[in-house]
Amino acid sequence: MNNTPFIYGKLANSLEFTNRTAETQQLLQNFEAGISTILISPRRWGKSSLVQHAAKKLRNNKIKICHLDLFSTRTEEEFYEQLSTAVLSVSGNKLSEITGFVKEMLGKFIPKISINPDPNSEVSISLDWKEVKKDPADILNLAEKIAKKKNIKIVVCIDEFQNIAGFENPLAFQKKIRAIWQKQQHVSYCLYGSKRHMMMDVFTKPSMPFYKFGDIIFLQKIHVEDWQKFIVKRFKETGKKITPEQATTIADLCECHPYYAQQLAQQTWLRTSRVCTKQNIETAHESICNQLGLLFQMMADELPTTQLNYLKAILAGEKKLSSKDVINHYRLGTSANVVRIKQALLEKEILDETGTGPVFLDPYFAYWLKTKFFV
Ligand SMILES: Nc1ncnc2c1ncn2[C@@H]1O[C@H](COP(=O)(O)OP(=O)(O)O)[C@@H](O)[C@H]1O
Ligand SMILES: [Mg+2]
Repeated sequence: MNNTPFIYGKLANSLEFTNRTAETQQLLQNFEAGISTILISPRRWGKSSLVQHAAKKLRNNKIKICHLDLFSTRTEEEFYEQLSTAVLSVSGNKLSEITGFVKEMLGKFIPKISINPDPNSEVSISLDWKEVKKDPADILNLAEKIAKKKNIKIVVCIDEFQNIAGFENPLAFQKKIRAIWQKQQHVSYCLYGSKRHMMMDVFTKPSMPFYKFGDIIFLQKIHVEDWQKFIVKRFKETGKKITPEQATTIADLCECHPYYAQQLAQQTWLRTSRVCTKQNIETAHESICNQLGLLFQMMADELPTTQLNYLKAILAGEKKLSSKDVINHYRLGTSANVVRIKQALLEKEILDETGTGPVFLDPYFAYWLKTKFFV
């Protein structure tokens, strides 16, 4: 499909990007000022899209932005490899210049460097990563040295940063990189990731090396008014019609979850011939829920009964989850048990803790449990 007005599963850019002006502004300001930023939200709320959006908006050719994604990074060695590749790929446009930096700054590792013929792909250097791991200071300072030399600033953006918690000796690793990064004058960092608990551990615990490393932004969902305007506009631009009320219904049904809002809008748009009907929205909604049914069934099968019971209580609107009545009625065991159940569901990222109590992270999972599973 070429001209679908909504996009999900890929980074939202320009046309598909809605609002987030305040967050974009803050990121840009931090990029300019050399302040590091930590961006936290559940997955699929738009962190990667936001960072990319802000990076594209930056109009200062004295600042270079590089990205690495730790999604599938499992070891420290891989991290150093990705970091140096990312930094080098923004450090110059001539092969000779990049090779120069490598020789000068990483020479002791006897590097081999190659540049892919595809102009969009990055440089790749091969070093003895095991050796690098023994003394990674040169790699961790590469960005700083290059920035100084070229009289630029570099922003290193690292996606899925929580994955460093899975490295062999995460605490020692964090200490090592923090000690070096905090001294840098020309480099700042934008570290973002889901798994709120792990990110919180790393960045908000006074005992942890990354405590107070930078501004922490807890990214929120996108406002219903913004979705409304966005959906109406995108329908209009593609020759179809939807009322503001209907657009609001779409946002409401998926609780403004960015990924699902785009998906539901898209599925509704596909079912709309010219003018959107209530039925178009309803069938789109059901169809998404059914598509996810298999996955949800597997998720539910893996949950112990008490955890399912707890979810049932939340879906029923219970607020006092550790009260005697609720515990008895939903068979939650003891009140100590209730604490453990909640903890487990938070860690599995099924629930999220909010000021007003636990809520479902996935609105479709909640809807599916309520309408298909607990009936
Ligand atoms: N600002 C935005 N405007 C519109 N849709 C968005 C926005 N941010 C995210 N989305 C939607 O959410 C999906 C997931 O976004 P992504 O940036 O990958 O989230 P994360 O990095 O937090 O997992 C995107 O594919 C897109 O459909
Ligand atoms: Mg992401």
